[in-house]
Amino acid sequence: MFSERVKSIDISGIRKMFEGAGPNAINLGLGQPDFDTPEHIKKAAIEAINSGFTGYTANLGIPELRLALCGKFEQENNFTVAPDEVIVTSGASEALHLALAALIDRGDDVLIPDPGFVSYSALTKMAGGSVVGVPLGDKLTLEPEKVNECITPRTKVLIINSPSNPTGTVQTKKDIKGLAQIAEDTGITIISDEVYEHFIYEGEHVSPAQFTDNVITINAVSKTYAMTGWRIGYAAARKEYIEQMLKVHQYIQACACSIAQKAALAAIEGPQDCVRDMCASFKRRRDILLEGLRAMGIKCVKPQGAFYAFPQVVDENAPQKLIKNGVIVVPGASFGENGKGHIRLAYSTSEENLRKALGVMERVLI
Ligand SMILES: Cc1ncc(COP(=O)(O)O)c(C=O)c1O
Repeated sequence: MFSERVKSIDISGIRKMFEGAGPNAINLGLGQPDFDTPEHIKKAAIEAINSGFTGYTANLGIPELRLALCGKFEQENNFTVAPDEVIVTSGASEALHLALAALIDRGDDVLIPDPGFVSYSALTKMAGGSVVGVPLGDKLTLEPEKVNECITPRTKVLIINSPSNPTGTVQTKKDIKGLAQIAEDTGITIISDEVYEHFIYEGEHVSPAQFTDNVITINAVSKTYAMTGWRIGYAAARKEYIEQMLKVHQYIQACACSIAQKAALAAIEGPQDCVRDMCASFKRRRDILLEGLRAMGIKCVKPQGAFYAFPQVVDENAPQKLIKNGVIVVPGASFGENGKGHIRLAYSTSEENLRKALGVMERVLI
């Protein structure tokens, strides 16, 4: 009765982990900041409601937000786009869906990092494409040479995600350049998911759109401003991409939430010290977690960004054991074949919780 496309995808492994955990469990499973949305952003939403800004907006998104995003791309990401080359979506999730729906025909290959964010394979399959996992290198980053080895005449899209969920690693400028060159040489489109760009502790964020326009740049206010529930993301690309994505967006979404768009505008245009504070806090937590793991002899590539660590854990039952003992983690295999033998830890929780969780890990895993 149900479509093969939908039957071929699984319920997210991340959600599954929350079932069966006690109410007092320490949650290192959930990928969202534990901070509240800053006051000035909330205020903009309240003003939008009070002033009756509650109807549909332009399908692409409110013009002032798209204009502000053009400025953001120019200042922070070193590339220029016009307001009609930006679309506002319901989270980065919808932007990823629009990009894949616009590009993929049945039988097209999509190269995704393995391990990589869970939505990439599910959205590829829903769009009728075939998932080709590109194994990450020793530094848990996507290497241009490995990407080249995976390219066939059927390859249509390459997804990049730096800083990465689940590994927390950051691509070097050299590798981003190399990946952009592949897109230039082959005509493959890069989908660059940059939702963690503001949380980098070492290294730098580099957008491939600096080097090629065969790229759809995807981002969101979700993580940057602790706004995961507001559901505002955005994509920037050449007009021909946005025109096709807009058609899908019109019919599945009409427009992103009017109130949340005003809040996103306040976020982008407002003071950025809230972002710097969150970043400093995540860095401290990363250091606590990394030090704790190293002290136990658990191997972990140093995460340079986002708020995830992806340590190696030999015991296959480690996630279940930890959950039983009150620490929720996500099995690495949820992120692809090559995620096996790892667990993903989201350190977007208090320092106290992290120390407690490390204590449990020592008791249960060592
Ligand atoms: C790499 C990555 N991309 C996209 C998303 C989805 O973001 P949004 O909440 O804006 O849909 C997430 C959320 O966890 C993510 O980790």
